[in-house]
Amino acid sequence: MKRNNPGNPGSHDNFVRGRFKEDISDIAADFTASLDIDKKLADFDINGSIAHLYALEKAGIVSKKEKNDIEKALIKIKSDIKNEKMKLDKKYEDIHMNIEKRLIELVPESGAKLHTGRSRNDQVSVDFRLYVKSRIRDTASEIINLETVLVKMAKSNIGTVMPGYTHLQHAQPVSLAHHILAYYEMFLRDFKRLLNAYETADVLTLGSGALAGVDFDIDRNFEAKVLGFGNVSRNSMDAVSDRDFALEFNFALSMIALHLSRFCEELIIWNSSEFGFVKLKDEFTTGSSIMPQKKNPDVLELIRGKTGGVVSSLLSLFITMKSLPLTYNRDMQEDKKPVMESFYSVYSSLKIFKEIIKTLKFDKKKMGEGLKNDYIYATDIATYLAKKGMPFRKSHEITGRIVSYAENSGKPLSSLSLKEYKKITEAAEADIFDLFNPEVSVNSKKTKGGTAFKEINAVINEYEKEIGNNKKFLRKLV
Ligand code: ARG
Repeated sequence: MKRNNPGNPGSHDNFVRGRFKEDISDIAADFTASLDIDKKLADFDINGSIAHLYALEKAGIVSKKEKNDIEKALIKIKSDIKNEKMKLDKKYEDIHMNIEKRLIELVPESGAKLHTGRSRNDQVSVDFRLYVKSRIRDTASEIINLETVLVKMAKSNIGTVMPGYTHLQHAQPVSLAHHILAYYEMFLRDFKRLLNAYETADVLTLGSGALAGVDFDIDRNFEAKVLGFGNVSRNSMDAVSDRDFALEFNFALSMIALHLSRFCEELIIWNSSEFGFVKLKDEFTTGSSIMPQKKNPDVLELIRGKTGGVVSSLLSLFITMKSLPLTYNRDMQEDKKPVMESFYSVYSSLKIFKEIIKTLKFDKKKMGEGLKNDYIYATDIATYLAKKGMPFRKSHEITGRIVSYAENSGKPLSSLSLKEYKKITEAAEADIFDLFNPEVSVNSKKTKGGTAFKEINAVINEYEKEIGNNKKFLRKLV
């Protein structure tokens, strides 16, 4: 069976006639079809068509009756597609042609008027923008849900002190809450990036036609209002060839995936028997087919693993768009798959990650034991000496000697005697032993943004307000 060539005649029906004498070959029809991907745009396509229809009525191109008939038919098509009552056929290439074809079947005379003053180029652009805007709202809302869970978890762990790491080596004691909230900051930046991408996508491109604008009095501001766009594009050539909004969304998704992957990696390490800082709930782990003792953190590993796909989607879109001459080129049909796949990976990752976070059981004892190796207080000793007036470079060097002495004698720092300390530096006094205390160490940090309990409490207040405001802001986005 031959497929109808969109924009061309079809020997099997009279859907669209044109300059072509022959149908497109089966192999070319199959190769060029995008239905499998763009069928996800069905709802957006119909909303875009309805806005266009209203503008056509306003411009006197369709009568009120025609408008009502077409709108009714479009709404029926929407529900038929949703309920899988309408057969989508690859022979009509994409979702846009499938919907129009069905519309013309339902209302033959008036339906054929819908494509007046419109090209598939501006139609696809507006559909994709509506899709991206909606998926940004979904992603941003999941980010807020995750932030809420993180702040709650942090709140109940302010007093839990654990080793903080640099180079995956013991560095200085920190509050577990401080560690968790580092991710709050990352996800907040992701939220803002999503909103930036939203603004880029929030431009109505309908009315650009194929590339030059259209000959009818289409009220574009009115269309923008109907569809909830904040702006109207100002250059029709840019409008039909621009995919920056998709790239920006994909970039924001890649950053989320990257942040999730770092968090997952930490939890995987913390869940190992070597660390034992955290226990994952059975429901998020799997067993091994051969080693009965295993509980593998597969879900976390998969979230981490999906990052590769998300970042490569971003690259694939970059490479597709690179060097394309103005305006629309068929290459651009390849733009939706990477965005849709990235969205799905990140959205589902955020959802399940939040559930994992909710069920995490921290082993505070194990975290505390990590501090028993008290060389982690070496910086506190150097700072103690500096507070007594010694230049820091000097106190750093002396502390280095203290650590090396302790190491050589096979003793923890807290077991050296004051005499031993005094042999290395006269500045050491009896109060040096107060330093070997997790809370003292953490709460000696004075700066805003540091790990002292007081600071964490203050910043959590800010976060809670921020979450409330961001929720409200998101609800206002159409
Ligand atoms: N399926 C195409 C796409 O998604 C529709 C646009 C076709 N435009 C054209 N000039 N051939 O990009």
